Amino acid sequence: MNPTTQPDFGTPESPREDTVRIEIDGLPVSVKAGSTIMRAARESGVDVPKLCATDSLKPFGSCRLCVVEVEGQKGYPASCTTEVAEGMKIRTQTEALAKLRRNVMELYISDHPLDCLTCSANGDCELQDMAGAVGLRDVRYGMDGDNHLDAPVDDSNPYFSFDPAKCIVCSRCVRACDEVQGTFALTIEGRGFESKVAASIGESFLDSECVSCGACVDACPTATLIDKSIIDHGQPDHSVLTTCAYCGVGCSFKVDMKGDQVVRMTPYKDGMANHGHSCVKGRFAWGYATHKERALDPLIRDSIDEPWRKVSWDEAIQYAAKRFREIQKKHARKAVGGITSSRCTIEEVFVVQKLVRTAFNNNNVDTCARVCHSPTGYGLKQTLGTSAGTQPFDSVMDADVIVVIGANPTDGHPVFASQMKRRLREGARLIVVDPRKIDLVRSPHIEADFHLPLLPGTNVPMINAFAHVAVAEGLVDESYVNERCDLDSFEAWKKQILKPENSPEVVSEISGVPADDIRNAARLYASADRGAIYYGLGVSEHSQGSTMVMGMANLAMATGNIGFSGCGVNPLRGQNNVQGSCDMGSFPHELPGYRPVQDDAARATFEERWGVELDPEPGYRIPNMFDAAIAGKFKGMYIQGEDLAQSDPNTQHVEAALSNMDCVVVQDLFLNETAKFAHVFLPGTSFLEKDGTFVNAERRINRVRPVMKPRQGKAEWLITQELAQALGYPMDFGSQAEILDEIAALVPTFAGVSFEFLDKVGSVQWPCNETAPLGTPIMHVDGFVRGKGNFVETDYVPTKERTSRRFPLLLTTGRTLTQYNVGAQTRRTANNIWYKEDLLEVHPHDAEERGISDGDRVSLTSRKGDITLEAKITERVQPGVVYTTFHDPETGANVVTTEYSDWATNCPEYKVTAVQVAPAVHRSKWQHQFEKRAREQGKVL
Ligand code: SF4
Ligand code: SF4
Ligand code: SF4
Ligand code: FES
Repeated sequence: MNPTTQPDFGTPESPREDTVRIEIDGLPVSVKAGSTIMRAARESGVDVPKLCATDSLKPFGSCRLCVVEVEGQKGYPASCTTEVAEGMKIRTQTEALAKLRRNVMELYISDHPLDCLTCSANGDCELQDMAGAVGLRDVRYGMDGDNHLDAPVDDSNPYFSFDPAKCIVCSRCVRACDEVQGTFALTIEGRGFESKVAASIGESFLDSECVSCGACVDACPTATLIDKSIIDHGQPDHSVLTTCAYCGVGCSFKVDMKGDQVVRMTPYKDGMANHGHSCVKGRFAWGYATHKERALDPLIRDSIDEPWRKVSWDEAIQYAAKRFREIQKKHARKAVGGITSSRCTIEEVFVVQKLVRTAFNNNNVDTCARVCHSPTGYGLKQTLGTSAGTQPFDSVMDADVIVVIGANPTDGHPVFASQMKRRLREGARLIVVDPRKIDLVRSPHIEADFHLPLLPGTNVPMINAFAHVAVAEGLVDESYVNERCDLDSFEAWKKQILKPENSPEVVSEISGVPADDIRNAARLYASADRGAIYYGLGVSEHSQGSTMVMGMANLAMATGNIGFSGCGVNPLRGQNNVQGSCDMGSFPHELPGYRPVQDDAARATFEERWGVELDPEPGYRIPNMFDAAIAGKFKGMYIQGEDLAQSDPNTQHVEAALSNMDCVVVQDLFLNETAKFAHVFLPGTSFLEKDGTFVNAERRINRVRPVMKPRQGKAEWLITQELAQALGYPMDFGSQAEILDEIAALVPTFAGVSFEFLDKVGSVQWPCNETAPLGTPIMHVDGFVRGKGNFVETDYVPTKERTSRRFPLLLTTGRTLTQYNVGAQTRRTANNIWYKEDLLEVHPHDAEERGISDGDRVSLTSRKGDITLEAKITERVQPGVVYTTFHDPETGANVVTTEYSDWATNCPEYKVTAVQVAPAVHRSKWQHQFEKRAREQGKVL
């Protein structure tokens, strides 16, 4: 077996706990009831030959290679489809079986190229292994009869190839696409000898419905579906376990290596977040790590008008320290700050916030969660007592009713979406609350019971209407509320929620969703045995983002839907380590572990460990930093792995702020948009070079392991540590493991975590400490973390951003499957083949009114700015709403978003911008400059 291949038990593990006693080849064994003979045999150390079976898929029973003999039974049952029974006596190796298996293999091989030595799968091919296992010595049926050996190869997918000549029509690929991924892109076309695998209706893989998740490639037992990287570089010789660096699902991967070269990323079957599945980003889009545009040299310049100068690490770090010190001396201690990155490990984040708090000696530290999930932290803390999601992903398999609000899991969190779709195919009911008809609303074998296409900005009245129906119709779980919640807050909330303005009828007027749909959807959730809410940035990135998070928590508490599997309020976190960067004190008001900086006792703990007196005043949030920079009071910023100039709202304001600073230090993989305003550039490392941990959306702490040395010569935590030292603070960690040890010593929810422990258990969900030594999959099981669950009144305050005659449409933003965030990584991979640039989705009605056709260039204008992009005419969006993504700096979608933000956390209101769309006309450079200057001066155009 290839050294990087994981064991395959042939069929899935039986869910039953009881056991039966059987005999396999004369040996008595005890196995789980409900197991197949194949699984039982493999668990007992006996290999039965197989081809169509694999343990990630339901048994299929088509190849007949796995036949066995069972005492007292006629014939030769297939071991992959036959369940064990008490007292069963099984024989897996007899003369008769050997003959049968050789016959089967002969038939397969007679229609298979005999090119093993030159085949890319040589050494990692189950067909080859099975030919050896059954002792195939000759093939009686010649190759000169009918065969498929000349079938053309489909190379259309940039990452894998499909060579039908090598296909044995075992159907594993088709079943993987159906059962694991849930896309149903493949079929077996034709019958008998004519049968063959087809992508959609005889299209190429690229033109088909295929979303390039790779599940079929992983399932294929031959070289028919194979990674192009394996064809190019050959089979791996070892592998290293790590965690995907893209979204908050946090999939575990084996990085398959040949020497020191990465040749493939294979989803890890024992990964607790992904169970062996992946999406196109994690599985294939890792080439950016060695992209030619990777910046590998430290750079400095005195002013942003000057060209960069390549310098040594030492010179760059000393230069940055000197400029930060000068700023603090000339202006104020608080005139500098830092931004942590959710793409970095928690260890790397921890040292940046520690640098800010010790070496800068202020609390001016913030993170990208400010622009995504800060309302989650605030809202869940107020109501439940902890700033994190309540469930593991697996919990969805117990949900009866699933509510998806302001999230697009098939694009944003694809591996979790596949799991959710599996539960939906099993019969769970679905409510989608989203202005757009996301894929989940209707996809193969799935149809939402309700899609509530509300107008952007009306989440809060919608959730209030759900609660109104639950309370008014007696669907509140009284005993749950009485036992677990604060009753005064419940009564006050109930009174507010019963007000007529929260009725479905009134909310229908505000949201544009029919009252009956709201009422029936609310009934469905409130009367579910187990109702689960999943939400995304469509909830948080609003002026009432925090209110909405609390509204969902209120509703879940009132209906008894927190504290059990299948329930909960679950944020689908955007970036791989956004939970971790929040946990690590990346907020200006909180030390690591969410402890307020104003809390004397908390500060004292950190002061004792860090040996400095800490600032008791909360620092600036990102938007405050920018405002202060424009006012000339904030002059220096250390930015770890974030492209603020592209990802933050109102780009012109951000650019004006950055240009007004004296020392901007950017630490990143590429010279990004923000680096245009930087004085020091410190090259960062990709996840393939990092050693540490990420925390995913389910609070799971996963190991990230390096497969290569830092390409720019220095680990990122060390860069930060040396900067702290140059600034005069004696930070002296010896390794990443030591940083995690300090985190464990200071953050009670991480007390039991260390590299050693994680290497032993795989991964763990915090809190992990003395009371929960193996972690905490479900939160609030016997009561809420804060004690009694707290209901918070959620009055609807409409956003100030309104449509007008000049800006009559509402723009909302989101993500697409193949690109990630500002696109810095994915745009440097072959993923561009699917999504080259940001598109503007426009409803046909709005398009017709404006004379816009599909594919036209259009201008998108708000009172903040204008951009030009390509229109896509689609009924996915409703009339009056347009939609785009923000993956492309060329488009700069955030040029048009406004300065409005969440009242509690300043999370920008990306999801609601009043805009106008028109066919693009050529405007002179002079016109652009004039308008830009006018806007900067606050003039209304
Ligand atoms: S492509 Fe691979 S998995 Fe699919 S039927 Fe052919 S051999 Fe089996
Ligand atoms: S790559 Fe994924 S989506 Fe595409 S055909 Fe294979 S399993 Fe289906
Ligand atoms: S679902 Fe997210 S974590 Fe998993 S492979 Fe895709 S991008 Fe990576
Ligand atoms: S492995 Fe059992 S029939 Fe194919």
